[in-house]
Amino acid sequence: MTEERTDWSSAGFATRAIHSGQSSDPSTGAVIPPIYLSSTYRQDGVGVMRAGYDYARAGNPTRTSLEEALADTEGGASALTFASGLAAEDALLRAVLRPGDHVVVPDDAYGGTYRLISRSFGPWQIAHTTVPTSDPDAVARAIQPGRTRLVWVETPSNPLLNLSDIAALAEVAHDAGALLVVDNTFATPVLQNPLAWGADVVVHSTTKYIGGHSDVVGGALVFAAETELPDGLTGPTGTVSLADAVRFQQFAAGAILGPFDTFLTQRGLKSLEVRVLRHSENAAVIAALLVDRLGETQVLYPGLESHPGHAVAARQMTGFGGMVSFRAGSASRALAVVERTQVFTLAESLGGVESLIEYPYAMTHASVVGSALEVPDDLVRVSVGLETVGDLVADLDRALAL
Ligand SMILES: Cc1ncc(COP(=O)(O)O)c(C=O)c1O
Repeated sequence: MTEERTDWSSAGFATRAIHSGQSSDPSTGAVIPPIYLSSTYRQDGVGVMRAGYDYARAGNPTRTSLEEALADTEGGASALTFASGLAAEDALLRAVLRPGDHVVVPDDAYGGTYRLISRSFGPWQIAHTTVPTSDPDAVARAIQPGRTRLVWVETPSNPLLNLSDIAALAEVAHDAGALLVVDNTFATPVLQNPLAWGADVVVHSTTKYIGGHSDVVGGALVFAAETELPDGLTGPTGTVSLADAVRFQQFAAGAILGPFDTFLTQRGLKSLEVRVLRHSENAAVIAALLVDRLGETQVLYPGLESHPGHAVAARQMTGFGGMVSFRAGSASRALAVVERTQVFTLAESLGGVESLIEYPYAMTHASVVGSALEVPDDLVRVSVGLETVGDLVADLDRALAL
């Protein structure tokens, strides 16, 4: 009988992404475990479950596989997967926040995150302050002792690609008894592991690079070992474990990732490393083209030495990623460029194999117009895909020249 390895936590990144949580099916030997569609599980006596599953809102083996793999790729102790990135954020916020609490939010957060915190949680007496999280002193000043439960960070940020120093912010948050949440959607676990720099929770919109093919919506949270709810809070089950408190919220409200979507997401995760490395290579070429055509100051890409966050990126990331933004000089030029490209498709979202271009002011970040998070109206964001890089260069060059 061959022996099957199940603990991959000490293996290299790509090995973990491919093998963690993916043991072969014990009954058939199928190398790819089946998609478990059952909504319910036979009990061998009341409350006697064969593998801990009773009902699929509470748990499902397909989801468990992906959660193990995500925890292993982020260097976390556990993970939970959700119906979307925002569903993941919502469950986390409900687990940690109580009326009267306060959250520090980046002044360049993803618009949907800001909308959730300000417009869904605001009416439940959750206050927030927006700050440039690239400045740890500004974050320290924004903290309200005894009230601030969470410091939220996105690095690199969407769509301005600002960098924040995770280790410095972890210290600021922890000194105040708050948790540090890092949205790692842009960097992916290939390029950055926030838990290793002191973050307590990592958020992913797995819709993006992890799914990787623009064909599935999902979200995930990855938890550091033994992270507790802030300042003696207890969850509804009496738990002090953050992961358990969030799991309860997921179970109670039910925004789980379905089995087919879980399968697609895990299939994406297996090729994440090779894709992200090529996305980064192609993005560096696109950034160089943009610098040449528009000048260094107009191009927002952490790989450029001129980028104000370059040193932080070089320290806490192992590459600079596939997202590039640029200032076109005027709203009309930005609109003209995004409507002219042919290989870059005009569409929201990012992180898929195909290149996308968008106008954040009126598309992904339309909900923050008029708020502290409003993005410039000449900004263009591109998600550099995996097409032949010469085709990408020619397409963008043509659109810029017309
Ligand atoms: C950085 C970031 N975080 C979170 C989200 C929300 O994810 P989802 O669209 O999967 O709910 C997005 C979506 O664009 C995002 O870009």
